[in-house]
Amino acid sequence: MAPVVRTIREEETPIWLDSLSSAFLEPFDPIKVAEEVRPLWDYSRVWAALEDETIVGTFRSWATELTLPGGGRLPGSAVAGVSVRPTHRRRGILSEMAAAEHGAARERGEAVAVLYSSEYPIYGRFGYGPSSPWATWTLDASGTRFHAESTGSIEFAKPSTESRDAIKDIFEAWRLGQAGELRRRDFTWDLDLGLRESVWGPTWKGYLCLHRDASGQLDGYVRYRPEEKWTQRQPRNILNVDELHALNDDAYAALWQFLANVDTVATIKAERRRPLERLPWLLTNARAAEPSDMGDGLWVALLDPARALAARAYQREGSLVLEAIDRAGADSEREVGHRIALEAGPAGATCKVTVKAPDLTLDLAALGAAYLGGVRLRDAVAARGADEHRAGALAEADALFATADPPWCSTFF
Ligand SMILES: CC(C)(COP(=O)(O)OP(=O)(O)OC[C@H]1O[C@@H](n2cnc3c(N)ncnc32)[C@H](O)[C@@H]1OP(=O)(O)O)[C@@H](O)C(=O)NCCC(=O)NCCS
Repeated sequence: MAPVVRTIREEETPIWLDSLSSAFLEPFDPIKVAEEVRPLWDYSRVWAALEDETIVGTFRSWATELTLPGGGRLPGSAVAGVSVRPTHRRRGILSEMAAAEHGAARERGEAVAVLYSSEYPIYGRFGYGPSSPWATWTLDASGTRFHAESTGSIEFAKPSTESRDAIKDIFEAWRLGQAGELRRRDFTWDLDLGLRESVWGPTWKGYLCLHRDASGQLDGYVRYRPEEKWTQRQPRNILNVDELHALNDDAYAALWQFLANVDTVATIKAERRRPLERLPWLLTNARAAEPSDMGDGLWVALLDPARALAARAYQREGSLVLEAIDRAGADSEREVGHRIALEAGPAGATCKVTVKAPDLTLDLAALGAAYLGGVRLRDAVAARGADEHRAGALAEADALFATADPPWCSTFF
């Protein structure tokens, strides 16, 4: 008998976690984890696949908000905890759970779904495309100077509810202008500052520094953890940057310069940054700052393509009828085509479901990848091809979706 997919009751949390544990190869204590997560989870979004009374698949989400090119924002479903017991793989259980959550998300009015993928090949068939690439930046602090002395002032702040609220305000101001960024959940701020313990891992221990502009206004912050390293009896310590956000170029430069000037430090390492940073241009030796480990970052699926495309801004005028093929379909049994007429321009866009003949047919996952402008549409369609029904339609769509400022999501879950 096929497993039943439904949302769970709170008291089923330990058995849900037990199933997750077997799939993720993480032998944690489900009772302890359940105690921690129960007050935090929205149980109308916690899905399970059940075979009789046994949970064999897990899938959950929470409400988030995604910033779009041009500064618009859309309600979204952030997906995590996706797993199927090793004894039950490749029987369509994930497909059933994804269809259930996507249907519920549409009913809740969420136009997009976002996630981080453990393995690249899993989510394309469900309409997700890798949309906001990221990279690790390494700065050889001893190999360069900065062109200009930084401005403003930097101060250490003890992790506390006050400093948490201060950096939350900076982050909020920043994320509203950063395409690809997500609203963060309240408890993650406490975890990020080590104000809350978690059974999932060690409590954060590190340093928090705030930047103020010349008038004393807070306009940036950095959280970092030191890593001891000695070479030839000389200190060559590493600073691992967990987060660095600035509301303007001066604060950005000042925070990097501060890190580079910490005594006994040779290397600054910052993971999950955008692949293109301004940092090298601030240095007398631009090669001292290097991106590596480029990754696919945040994946986006357009659950309501017409609403999603109308909500973002475009840098040029364009008019296209797109047909996006959803391979998972509404009931995961068949392909569904979303046919939408997009009228786009810098002043705004409209996008409506239409019966007009399409100019371009493409995979919904390719549209998800190109949606935020971090991936070229002409590249994203390489995975499954595109049908151009009007000559030049692919080049037009590619130019329309491109943005000058690349998206970036610094919020990881
Ligand atoms: C990923 C996972 C949830 C898939 O569950 P599943 O129930 O086996 O998936 P389904 O049977 O619904 O698969 C649907 C399709 O996706 C494919 N697929 C599923 N997982 C895949 C993977 N890891 N790599 C490549 N293809 C995969 C299946 O082959 C199937 O393709 P088909 O329809 O062409 O036959 C499961 O393998 C798992 O728990 N993995 C370990 C935990 C994990 O990585 N979770 C994802 C966290 S982001």
